[in-house]
Amino acid sequence: MHIPVLQKEVIQYLNPQPDENFIDATIGGGGHAAEILQKIAPRGKVLGIDWTPEAISEIKKNPNLILVCDNFANLSEIIKRYKFNKVSGILFDLGYSSWHLEESKRGFSFQKKEPLDMRYNAQNQLTAEKIVNFWSKFEIERVLADYGEEKRVRKIAEKIIEARKQKPIKNTAHLTEIIKQAGSAPRLTFQALRIAVNDELNNIEKALPQALQILAPRGRLVIISFHSLEDRIVKNFLKNNSLNLNILTKKPVIPTRQEIIINSRSRSAKLRACIKI
Ligand SMILES: C[S@@+](CC[C@H](N)C(=O)[O-])C[C@H]1O[C@@H](n2cnc3c(N)ncnc32)[C@H](O)[C@@H]1O
Repeated sequence: MHIPVLQKEVIQYLNPQPDENFIDATIGGGGHAAEILQKIAPRGKVLGIDWTPEAISEIKKNPNLILVCDNFANLSEIIKRYKFNKVSGILFDLGYSSWHLEESKRGFSFQKKEPLDMRYNAQNQLTAEKIVNFWSKFEIERVLADYGEEKRVRKIAEKIIEARKQKPIKNTAHLTEIIKQAGSAPRLTFQALRIAVNDELNNIEKALPQALQILAPRGRLVIISFHSLEDRIVKNFLKNNSLNLNILTKKPVIPTRQEIIINSRSRSAKLRACIKI
C-alpha cells in the first residue's frame, strides 16, 4: 500500500475548507485525496488525475470525487472537459507510487527481475527496453547525464552497447548486471530511464503554468518532488512567477525523522507551496 508522504503538511498548506474544489493531479493510491475529501465535505469536489489507469481503478468511489486517467501536462484541457472550476488548490505529488515498484511488473525496481518497461501508461510508445536496445551511445549518455546526474555515463553507455551486441537487454536483472560491470550502482540509471520514458521533466514544466492559471485568486499550489531535477524546476517556477504568487515555503519542507522511519520512501521528499495573488 502507498503511504501518502507529508500528509499533515499537505493539508496544512492546501488548507481545504468545506465546499471548496481541489485538483489532485497525481491521485495515485488516493491517500492525500481521501483527507482532502473529508475536509471539503459536504459539497466540495476533488478532480483526481493519474496517468496510470491501474491507480485510478483501485480508488474507492466517492460522489465528490471525479477520476480522470490522463497526463497532468493536459491540465487545462482536462478541466475544460469536466467543466471543473473555482479551484481552491492543486496538489502534485510527483513520480511513482509504491504500486509501481511493488506490483506493476513494469521494471521500476532494480531489486526485481521484470521486463524493462517503466511506462506509467502502456499507451505510451517509448519503453526503457527501446532506449537501451535501439538508441545510440550518444543518446544513452545524454539520458544518463541529464536525468540521472550519473558520473560514469560514458562507461555505462559503453557497457550497454557492448552487451546488446551479444543479446538484447530485456529485463531489469540484465541491465543491473551491466551497470554493475561499469562499476556503478543501478539507482541513478533506473531513475534516468524512467524520467526519459515518461518525459517526466517536460510534463512538470508544462503543467505548472497551467496550474497557476487555473487556480482561483488566493488558490494554493502544493508540489512534492523526490529528486533535485524535479525540485529545481519547481523552485525556478516559483521564483520566476514571484510577482503573481506568495511563496509559503522559503525553504522546502521535508519529512520529520519519525516519518522517514515509518516510510523510507519519504526521505527524499521536498514540499514547496504558494498562494496565487
Ligand atoms: C507519488 S504517487 C502519488 C500518491 C498519492 N498522492 C497518494 O496519496 O496515494 C505519484 C502518481 O503520479 C502519477 N503520475 C506520474 N506522472 C504523471 C503525469 N504526468 N500525469 C498524471 N499522473 C502522473 C503516477 O502514476 C503515480 O500514481
